[in-house]
Amino acid sequence: MSKQRTLSIIKPDATARNLVGKILGHFEQAGLTVVAAKMMTLTPEQAGQFYIIHKDRPFYGELIDYMCSGRVLVSVLEGEDAVNLNRTLMGATDPKKAAPGTIRALYAESIAANAVHGSDSAENAATEVKFFFPELK
Ligand code: CMP
Repeated sequence: MSKQRTLSIIKPDATARNLVGKILGHFEQAGLTVVAAKMMTLTPEQAGQFYIIHKDRPFYGELIDYMCSGRVLVSVLEGEDAVNLNRTLMGATDPKKAAPGTIRALYAESIAANAVHGSDSAENAATEVKFFFPELK
């Protein structure tokens, strides 16, 4: 497996609790490098477009409201098998099901306020990186 990139979002519940440094530490300690990052407050248009794949899910409205409720740190992580490695570091979407020591087990509050987002496939990673960092080479 060669070097790969994935998109990470540290979500409003985690930025509000000053967990940015701790969460980035998980990525860096595991060998991932932050190659781009920006702190931002998403507009409903941005969040709605980013999560368009979930538009028919019952939680879509709640997800968009939540993602716009505070600052997020959007970053691109690079390293060997970055997509899967980041998913392992994050743990399951529902923090109650996340393995001990994972970011969501340690820091997430609920399935909606679950501390982090990470791309779920190499194909989606490419789309998501381009969405937030169109200029990134
Ligand atoms: P994320 O990895 O950002 O991708 C989609 C998000 O939708 C997911 O993390 C959760 O935060 C959210 N989500 C998934 N399932 C539910 C649910 N049942 N209720 C509320 N939010 C959910």
